[in-house]
Amino acid sequence: MIRKLVFDLPTRIFHWLFSGLFITAFLIAKTIDSDSLVYTYHMLVGLTLGFAVVLRLIWGVLGTKHARLSDFSLNPRDLISYFIGILRGEKRKWAGHNPASSWAALCMMAFAMISSLTGYLMTSGTAKENFEDFHEISANAFMVVALVHVAGIVVHTVRYREWIGLSMVDGKKADVSAGEEIGSQRGGVALLFLGLVIAFGINLVRNYDFQSRTLKFVGTVLTLGENKTHDD
Ligand code: HEM
Ligand code: HEM
Repeated sequence: MIRKLVFDLPTRIFHWLFSGLFITAFLIAKTIDSDSLVYTYHMLVGLTLGFAVVLRLIWGVLGTKHARLSDFSLNPRDLISYFIGILRGEKRKWAGHNPASSWAALCMMAFAMISSLTGYLMTSGTAKENFEDFHEISANAFMVVALVHVAGIVVHTVRYREWIGLSMVDGKKADVSAGEEIGSQRGGVALLFLGLVIAFGINLVRNYDFQSRTLKFVGTVLTLGENKTHDD
């Protein structure tokens, strides 16, 4: 079966960076004591994740056909008929994101931004308690959507007997109609994207003071260790 290119390289690199950074931030938060120095990496990884999403959103405007946000299938009616179609056993395929994965992708990017922003606010001197619950809820909701997304990939693989996960590796899908494939991998943009995310992460580590456990970040100082200045 002929497989055609639908997802460019920047989109695929984003995908694996995004999932890797999220899993790392989440696992550190749930398994490491917040007093530990390792917990610092939770914040650094979380901020890098937020930066990667900003770049992905820019690529969502400038990118190739199926990377563009305008290509996402976000009409609620399409989502309902997508699920009805599954119940009826219909096997319609999408070249880009289907309605369920469009919504899942958008929700995950939104939860990543909310988690990053509330994390930033919690550590920038604003009352931590105000954002703590919000931060935890958005991170947990993020995990739920990510698990549903992976379950959806498994269901698709079984239903269509197609290794759909491969499309996020080599960018190709089967049964793509004429005109839906893209012409270029955009390797140069992918390199730039990867370079920017790595440079952002390295810059965070370089601006982090391990003694005071503070981070200089765009004009503010974030306190990334437990704040011991309280009387308690
Ligand atoms: C083994 C695990 C995974 C596989 C095989 C996989 C596979 C895929 C595939 C095939 C798509 C495109 C879906 C479509 O055709 O509509 C996709 C999109 C996406 N996945 Fe995953 N995924 C995995 C794990 C994750 C995890 C853990 C996350 C988040 C934490 C995630 C976040 C996303 C996002 C944000 C998109 C949209 C990408 C974009 O348009 O930039 N994935 N994934
Ligand atoms: C964007 C991805 C992020 C995810 C998925 C995430 C997830 C989490 C989770 C699951 C917790 C533990 C909540 C609990 O069960 O008690 C947590 C706590 C926390 N996170 Fe994040 N977070 C992210 C980003 C950030 C960022 C960017 C910062 C700061 C710059 C940050 C700062 C914190 C702090 C200060 C805590 C509380 C630690 C304590 O218990 O004192 N997070 N985060």
